[in-house]
Amino acid sequence: MNCQTNQDLANLENKIVLTGDRPTGKLHLGHYVGSLKNRTILQKKNTQYIMVANLQALTDNMHSHFDIAKYSIEIVKDYIAAGIDPNLNTIFLQSEVPALSELTILFLNCVKYAKLIRNPTLKEEIKDKYKADSVNMGFLCYPISQAADILAFSTDYVPVGLDQAPMIEQCNDIVNSLNKLSESLSLKKVQPLFSHHPRLIGIDGKKKMSKSLNNFISLSETNEEIRKKVFAMYTDANHVKIQDPGQVEGNTVFAYLEVFFDDKNELNTLKARYTNGGVSDVSLKDLLYQTLLNIISPIRELRNSISDNSIRKILEKGSVEANEVAQKNLIHIKSSLAINL
Ligand code: TRP
Repeated sequence: MNCQTNQDLANLENKIVLTGDRPTGKLHLGHYVGSLKNRTILQKKNTQYIMVANLQALTDNMHSHFDIAKYSIEIVKDYIAAGIDPNLNTIFLQSEVPALSELTILFLNCVKYAKLIRNPTLKEEIKDKYKADSVNMGFLCYPISQAADILAFSTDYVPVGLDQAPMIEQCNDIVNSLNKLSESLSLKKVQPLFSHHPRLIGIDGKKKMSKSLNNFISLSETNEEIRKKVFAMYTDANHVKIQDPGQVEGNTVFAYLEVFFDDKNELNTLKARYTNGGVSDVSLKDLLYQTLLNIISPIRELRNSISDNSIRKILEKGSVEANEVAQKNLIHIKSSLAINL
């Protein structure tokens, strides 16, 4: 699977791009490198829709619907603070665009149950989250509602993590079945855009930074919290004294420096010095702390200056725009299938 570099993304123009997040918590560094930065590149020359997927979030969080409402505002603050410009993007709330739900109902009829439950990502998520037989229908069908989100905007590209590849395939299966149903339908196939840094490891060294694993550094973290988290990271258990040779591979601090520290020459020199012995873990962690601070503190400052009300206005305006487009596409699909008067 090939991953797009920043340069590839910058070359993309006049395309329709759709991305979204489930509002289940504030966004963290994993989102920052995996998607937010890419969106700030893509917003320049493309039509970008950014959806706050509150309905999808409810599929596995119906019991905490008040939190979903709160985080629907919080993540848009993260967007804006990270450089996503509300004037260049359509930022909207999924539940405010009813055409998405109507398309979902239609698309349900194009997907075989047996095929749906073979989706490897879905299968794994169900295994991780649910006891046998306790998965609800909303969750089971989220790949189908995701296809509705994508097709409602005639999307060309969907930036996603590698684990979402089966969702794109599912969406394109729906495109094929619909196109076969009516001559007047020629829906476009959608393409995934896999990010250059699709996955940031957790601060515990585990394979993914995530809210549920509680191994994240959020974009609104205080300096003190960032410091604590960085200083609790594992380096190399055998690197006890400063003069001991240290290992770079499998060292969480280096893994983060690799992603966030821009001066690659300096980083290579540091790696060589660390490998030979003579660099303390404290100085290494201090470098990472300063590096992350330079990224997070401006985001946090900006974030703190944004009011909930201004976010509601952004979502209202975006939802009106999204509704217009989605409704038009829904009507086109419905009338092509003769589901109209
Ligand atoms: N599944 C995405 C997430 O977990 C959210 C999402 C919903 C989405 N619909 C989408 C992403 C359509 C891309 C395209 O964050």
